[in-house]
Amino acid sequence: MMHVSLRQLRTFEAVARLKSFSRAAEELHVTQPTVSKQIRLLNDEIGIPLLEQLGKKVFLTEAGEKLYATCAEWLETWGLFEQNIANLKGIKEGRLKIAAVTTTKYFMPRLLGPFCAEYPGIDISLEVVNRDRLLERLSRNQDDLYVMGVPPEGLDIVCEPFMDNPLVVLAPVTHSLVQRSKIPFRDLANEPFIVREHGSGTRLTIERAFQEQGLDLKIKMELGSNEAIKQAVAGGLGLALLSRSTLHLDHSQKELAILDVEGFPIMRSWYVVHARGKQLSVVAKTFLEFLQSHVQLLVPHG
Ligand code: PGA
Repeated sequence: MMHVSLRQLRTFEAVARLKSFSRAAEELHVTQPTVSKQIRLLNDEIGIPLLEQLGKKVFLTEAGEKLYATCAEWLETWGLFEQNIANLKGIKEGRLKIAAVTTTKYFMPRLLGPFCAEYPGIDISLEVVNRDRLLERLSRNQDDLYVMGVPPEGLDIVCEPFMDNPLVVLAPVTHSLVQRSKIPFRDLANEPFIVREHGSGTRLTIERAFQEQGLDLKIKMELGSNEAIKQAVAGGLGLALLSRSTLHLDHSQKELAILDVEGFPIMRSWYVVHARGKQLSVVAKTFLEFLQSHVQLLVPHG
């Protein structure tokens, strides 16, 4: 009989899935030596190597592949068990795992405050990642709920809009277009843009918008953060298309202006998403109800 701990298996599952010790450490909120130690203990117990490391790359051995498949099934079963127990207790407590896209960082933490105040027994883990990484997590059933602006097509998901997410064109206040109204979309094609990285929902929306107009998007710079983009726009490097959610309570806003471009703002929504077949916990259902009933009141979006 092997003596393997839940912790070791969780660690192994994360390393195997992310193919990286450092990313696994980041996700599990532990140090990298802790991850290495857990994997070493697990390896000793199982008795044959599970992972091969070539440089920084991690590969699964045949035994590793088998254990990974077992872990994935087992973690899911265990998660359901924990959930059933909580449901049996009929209590609104436990852990709520949410993954949300980068741009939601402007409102998700603020929205969780009143929720946690109302339900003190609920702990939240919020992963903030870009759209591509969020879709990866969704396909692996890693979280209870997902919050995003551009839900994927062709997946069997339930997707509920809960708040407006207009996409606006930002310019430095000193830009010549700031004084103009009803600027034709095609005039944007003459301007350099600062855009988010590939894999971002914002980037996807912009590319689609330009494609629909049959126009080329002139990319001056690519940045992986909305904050950095706003600074670059304020600094005069170019224009940007960002969710209006990024403008809440922000000092740099004084240096930025929203342009009056035809067809803008592009009206979109923020969605809360889960796989259709997912058995939602009481905690997740409570959060869904909270979103639907409170959010428009909590978050000013004008
Ligand atoms: P992003 O997503 O933060 O990955 O750009 C925003 C969105 O989906 O609208």
